[in-house]
Amino acid sequence: MENLNPKRDGFTSKFGIIAAAAGSAIGLGNIWKFPYIVGINGGAAFILIYLVCIALIGAPVMLSEFLIGRRAQKNAVGSFKKLAPNTPWFLTGWMGLGAAFMILSFYGVVAGWTFFYVVKMIFGAFKDMSPDAIGGMFGNFISGTNDAGTFGEWWHPIMYQVAFMALTAGVILGGVKNGIEKYSKILMPMLLVIIIILDIKAISLKGSSAGVEFLFKPEWGALKLSSVLDALGHAFFSLSLGMGTMITYGSYIGKKENLGVTSIQVTIADTLIALLAGLAIFPAVFAFGIEPGVGPGLVFVTLPNVFNAMGNIGQLFGIMFFVLLAVAALTSSISILEVVVAYLSEEMNLDRKKATIISTIIITFMGILCSLSLGPFTQTFPILELSEAEGFARFFTQYGFFDALDKISANFLLPIGGLMISVFVGWKMKNEDVKEELSNNGVLRIGYFVVFDFLCKFVAPLGIIFVFLYNLGVVKAVFTFFGWEI
Ligand code: TRP
Repeated sequence: MENLNPKRDGFTSKFGIIAAAAGSAIGLGNIWKFPYIVGINGGAAFILIYLVCIALIGAPVMLSEFLIGRRAQKNAVGSFKKLAPNTPWFLTGWMGLGAAFMILSFYGVVAGWTFFYVVKMIFGAFKDMSPDAIGGMFGNFISGTNDAGTFGEWWHPIMYQVAFMALTAGVILGGVKNGIEKYSKILMPMLLVIIIILDIKAISLKGSSAGVEFLFKPEWGALKLSSVLDALGHAFFSLSLGMGTMITYGSYIGKKENLGVTSIQVTIADTLIALLAGLAIFPAVFAFGIEPGVGPGLVFVTLPNVFNAMGNIGQLFGIMFFVLLAVAALTSSISILEVVVAYLSEEMNLDRKKATIISTIIITFMGILCSLSLGPFTQTFPILELSEAEGFARFFTQYGFFDALDKISANFLLPIGGLMISVFVGWKMKNEDVKEELSNNGVLRIGYFVVFDFLCKFVAPLGIIFVFLYNLGVVKAVFTFFGWEI
């Protein structure tokens, strides 16, 4: 089936494909989130579990997404409509669209913080600030509070968020070849260079070896079942899976490319950058005697202290670090917006410009609510989640808008989307279609197909169902019921 539409925009080179797909995968998830969940979960043992999740579930689901998109030559919704006409499978694409709106809303807020930190670093604003003062400043900034404790500066984080969203929309307006591919090809090498410089600096600090050990020497005793499930959940987010991002990107990949190799390259790049980010952060954290398990504030509160402790050169490294974070966020956010724009332009016949502007305005508005929900907007929303604190008798937990969108997308939409995608490829798609997408120059090694098929049919779906139940608190509830340790 040669159905490449010559008029359809798409990637033009192998490097462009890798840069764009790795650009999507490598984001705040790698540089902000991965180090802090490694910190909370005790280091190397968690990383090993994460690697297993990536290999057994992450990589096959990514290949499934690429394969669906390239076969159908359509967006996340259109792909299912084309490959499984007159069935409800297209709802998987719709869920992905919902997830795209939600994730980009809060993602844009955190990305805005990285812009603010670049500016702060350039002006040397953290110099001479005590660790407590830095924590206080971060808290005030994200909640839009001023020192008097009133919400006078609610617009401050929003200003940066809006700037970030405008930049994201600008890249998307350029199209696939002249927007996404072009900027990814510039930004991703830049990211790699910055992170390597930061790594060299961190490792050469006196006392850094404790940090390296923390990352690479497993303490199995510290590992809990919850760590295993955190690892799988994060694998999904980090590889941009379950939402149709890689379906959309897959539809821009030429027929000659080897999808299996591409998925593995992207998976390795994503994992490598996460590890390099850990290697840039923990040696420095340990060298200056700072606690590694502080959670989400690790990058925004702990690191400025680390840069301060480096003396004058610290400011330069600080600027580089937050530019790195902003670049990583940008290439990810464009991939999220592209899911929506590709859908609106192909299924709703909007032109690309209108589609981009409309979706960006809606997402930016939702993002403003996310930002405000860390301060003056105190309305909470009930999210389905069994609460351990009350003996699992309460089914809903109240969350603010930001956390509610995060929970709904990460705990429900992404895992269900990933489940549907692997089940679709494993059980629903025609075997010949799958085989054709997997073969290269007409050759398909049978072992490759058998392993992939087994992962899609059984390993990925069962793994995901387990995580899903865990996120709902069901696994914990059952363990508690039987009096088991978890
Ligand atoms: N993977 C990105 C990160 O690590 C975020 C991201 C981009 C994403 N596209 C996605 C997450 C699609 C889930 C689904 O920061």
